[in-house]
Amino acid sequence: MTTPAPVYLDNNATTRCDPQVVAAMLPFFTEQFGNASSMHAFGAEVGGAINKARKSLQALLGAEFDHEIVYTGGGTEADSTAILSALETQTGRDEIITSAVEHPAILTLVAHLEKTGRAKVHIIPVDAKGRLDMEAYRKALSDKTAIVSIMWANNETGTIFPVEQLAVMAHAVGALFHTDAVQAVGKIPMDLKATEIDMLSLSGHKLHGPKGIGALYVRKGVRLRPLIRGGHQERGRRAGTENAPAIIGLGKAAELAAAHMADENTRVAALRDRLESALLQRIGASFVTGDPEHRLPNTANIAFEYIEGEAILLLMNREGIAASSGSACTSGSLEPSHVLRAMNVPYTAAHGAIRFSFSRENDDTDVDRVIEAMPGIIAKLREMSPFWRERDVHTAAFNPSYA
Ligand SMILES: Cc1ncc(COP(=O)(O)O)c(C=O)c1O
Repeated sequence: MTTPAPVYLDNNATTRCDPQVVAAMLPFFTEQFGNASSMHAFGAEVGGAINKARKSLQALLGAEFDHEIVYTGGGTEADSTAILSALETQTGRDEIITSAVEHPAILTLVAHLEKTGRAKVHIIPVDAKGRLDMEAYRKALSDKTAIVSIMWANNETGTIFPVEQLAVMAHAVGALFHTDAVQAVGKIPMDLKATEIDMLSLSGHKLHGPKGIGALYVRKGVRLRPLIRGGHQERGRRAGTENAPAIIGLGKAAELAAAHMADENTRVAALRDRLESALLQRIGASFVTGDPEHRLPNTANIAFEYIEGEAILLLMNREGIAASSGSACTSGSLEPSHVLRAMNVPYTAAHGAIRFSFSRENDDTDVDRVIEAMPGIIAKLREMSPFWRERDVHTAAFNPSYA
């Protein structure tokens, strides 16, 4: 009997590099290996390719100018650059506003800034669906706010934030607005020139591009202090010889993402919806977390109550199915995800939450395989779970305000 092909549903952790991306990158390791800063032809052709990639990103983001895009070594670096720059350029302002459900790339940084006395941080809570508490946000904004950083879409639940509106509100008090759009870029359409967003972070490996490359969009007119100082690459905004192959790969990935955008929002969303409704129908005591109305088309986060996410993942892995519990960066710790805790999801459910994240590479066969495997996996684990046997007691202990 042949082993069926593995099913990869962990695309919010990382995506497979598209073979067309790899093909576009390869010549830049060997034939076109020049340094973009060099004055000769070797350098010029690489410099040209780097700027062509910038145009592809500009098109995907709907940015007005290609020079608004600064390449970075990934999403984390773009996030750090935006926040640290704002603290320097926004003189007389030392407060940062962010949300409780940001990625550690933001939360760890702002915690450090607060601890070292460099900033006062306001962490805005979310409701049970993961939506920002708008009243708390309004109250936190002041003439002390240097920057607001709120993600475009959450990596665990897919919940989409009203970033356009949040940016307008930030500007009303003279603050800069940054969004970590690492999970949103390439999945939902964007037209930055029609918004007031000042800065936006993206990452190559979340859109079938290479790892270790990303970009920070910086709206024309917004001052930027570089995080990495040195040579004059990227118009003095990010020093260091450009990672040309990765940049070319990111450009190709952006082109492909634009071409597949409609597919992502129809076919991929339909795959996700089919999986979600089939699992909820077949498996009791399970529910979807996040905001069903404003959600990325590729993400389903389902909590299977009274069992451990890690155990579910292990059994899924045995069936050749890859997904994740919490975000990849925090897995390994037994604490349930900070995102689900911020949403007040009860511990007994947050522990058993599984994130299924699709990409354009998934199809109906993948969905069928998961629908077939999951009910047995969950039943087996529940048989062994003391929490499941005593669930009435635990249900009574649930936070009654959680619906
Ligand atoms: C929302 C979000 N922000 C930032 C990052 C970090 O991006 P990178 O891995 O490119 O540093 C991730 C990656 O998991 C993410 O999901």
